Amino acid sequence: TRWWHGSQLSFQAIKPVDRLVDELTVPAGFQWQPVIRWGDPLFKRSPGFDPLKQSAAAQAQQFGYNNDYTDIVEIPGSRGRRAIMFCNHEYVNPAIMFPPSLDAAETRAISRAAHGLSVVELRRSRAGKPWTYQQGAPLNRRFLTDTAYALTGPAAGSELLKTVTSPDGRVAFGTLGNCSGGTTPWGTMLSGEENFNGYFVTAGTSATDKRYGLTSKPTNLGWEQDEQRWDTRNPGYQNEVNHFGWIVEVDPHDPQSTPVKHTAMGRLKHEGANVIIAEDGHVVAYMGDDERFDYLYKFVSKNKYRPGNSPAARSWNKKLLSEGDLFVAKFEGDSVSEIDGSGKLPDDGRFDGSGRWIPLTRNGVSAVPGMSIAEVLVYTRLAGDKVGATKMDRCEDVQPNLRTGKIYVACTNNTNRGKAGYAAADETNPRNENRDGHVVEITERGQQISQRFDWNLLLVCGDPSKNESTYFGGFPKDKVSPISCPDNLAFDSAGDLWISTDGAPSTIGFNDGLFKVTLEGRERGRVQQFLSVPRESETCGPIVHDRDGLVFVAVQHPGEEGSWAEQRSAFPDYVKPGSKPKRGQAALPRPAVVQVFKK
Ligand code: FEO
Ligand code: CA
Ligand code: CA
Ligand code: CA
Repeated sequence: TRWWHGSQLSFQAIKPVDRLVDELTVPAGFQWQPVIRWGDPLFKRSPGFDPLKQSAAAQAQQFGYNNDYTDIVEIPGSRGRRAIMFCNHEYVNPAIMFPPSLDAAETRAISRAAHGLSVVELRRSRAGKPWTYQQGAPLNRRFLTDTAYALTGPAAGSELLKTVTSPDGRVAFGTLGNCSGGTTPWGTMLSGEENFNGYFVTAGTSATDKRYGLTSKPTNLGWEQDEQRWDTRNPGYQNEVNHFGWIVEVDPHDPQSTPVKHTAMGRLKHEGANVIIAEDGHVVAYMGDDERFDYLYKFVSKNKYRPGNSPAARSWNKKLLSEGDLFVAKFEGDSVSEIDGSGKLPDDGRFDGSGRWIPLTRNGVSAVPGMSIAEVLVYTRLAGDKVGATKMDRCEDVQPNLRTGKIYVACTNNTNRGKAGYAAADETNPRNENRDGHVVEITERGQQISQRFDWNLLLVCGDPSKNESTYFGGFPKDKVSPISCPDNLAFDSAGDLWISTDGAPSTIGFNDGLFKVTLEGRERGRVQQFLSVPRESETCGPIVHDRDGLVFVAVQHPGEEGSWAEQRSAFPDYVKPGSKPKRGQAALPRPAVVQVFKK
């Protein structure tokens, strides 16, 4: 019952938009409107958004800040008229959110309440129409820093997860730094906890503190002034930071359900996780650690997927990510000529080769000498170091194409590649000082659960008119849209890849955007820009319901370089300077989920 399966979306690629332009630009014949914005009220009695009178109590009942992973799925049986939207709220930017008159402790409390997750019901009159979010709908939910998450898997209950507020090490409170995510075949949403380190003050001296970027410096947001848990030097809280860095799973269809954090999938700066069901029914998840020179991971469930939507099948499937084997990727190139870091194609004409998934855990025990299973799962980066995994150029979204089983890895950039003291270019990460990023395509050998794979680079990104080291799957370089810093990935119903970007203003001078990439046939590697986001924002989501004629993006951190007094973006309300905002609107930049559709 996938109502959006009808016809494909066709569009004329837009021209790249200069980085100073504060507009959301869509193709000719299309228009856009917000679905929901930072501060929009979610519950019946939630106050409307008023940035001059904002409070933590209000924010806790409103849509949070800096939406990243977003998905929208139909509510079964609603004939395309009701949907659930899941969205996470990665971080905040107090400099542009709060008037200087607001009390400092209150701004910190609002900041906490602007983090987390939201579930929001959408409605419309019929399929094919744009959506409206429903204030007060029964499935609406906010997840805050005091929301309880059940810790699952082999590390749950271990000494490394016990704290004064979680004496059995089986519950964690709140979720932080949520970046990308994924939607499972059983209807739950996954979200990756990424830059959690920035919220904590720690001793900063241990090998594990250092490997996860934890220091003893005061944090930017200063929550340690308000609550003991944010300083792990406080008695009873030394393991508090180990409650973050996981893959979170939420069942948005059940507002009473307890969200979980899956220790079996490892602890790292998780970008997200995306799931495919293997030929034999095992569930395979692919995951990236978004840090320069960090690793790519694969999880294979112990148990098999049960088809269907019965309560028994759903509750079985919701446990699949709690038990299984964790692997890390090791890539090998096949070129004879040396990879010199210039991005020049090797003599055999392709950046490609083979690789192995090295086990970190097998059958519930550690596969890494000298580390217990709890240590492997809580300090997964150190386990990857021990087995010699391949150092990647910041893996962002990693997503299997459900039509082909091939996996796409967005390596966003790595400006330290090849610098003194750092790893040099290799065939998988072939450019030194890689500003523009690349996209790896992986084909598992035989089955999806295989430990061997083949790979090649689909894209070596950049502006081809100015940069010789670009590659577009062999497609003519003069016929593509320039693209830089690939981040989130999605597929449309035809199996083509959509890439949203984060960082293009500082590399190729254009605003970030959303791009369609043809994967198969004569047009493989053809990149067409669909939209461009406003000044200083990043394109997140994305969701492509091509057969329903709708594309969604989460516009994150518009006008991020501004200040309260000098805002740099007016997205999405575009209140004219000096005029009174209309009801619900505000004269400051607001991260928002928007929908794009034909006029
Ligand atoms: Fe939050 Fe990896 O970008
Ligand atoms: Ca090669
Ligand atoms: Ca990202
Ligand atoms: Ca990013």
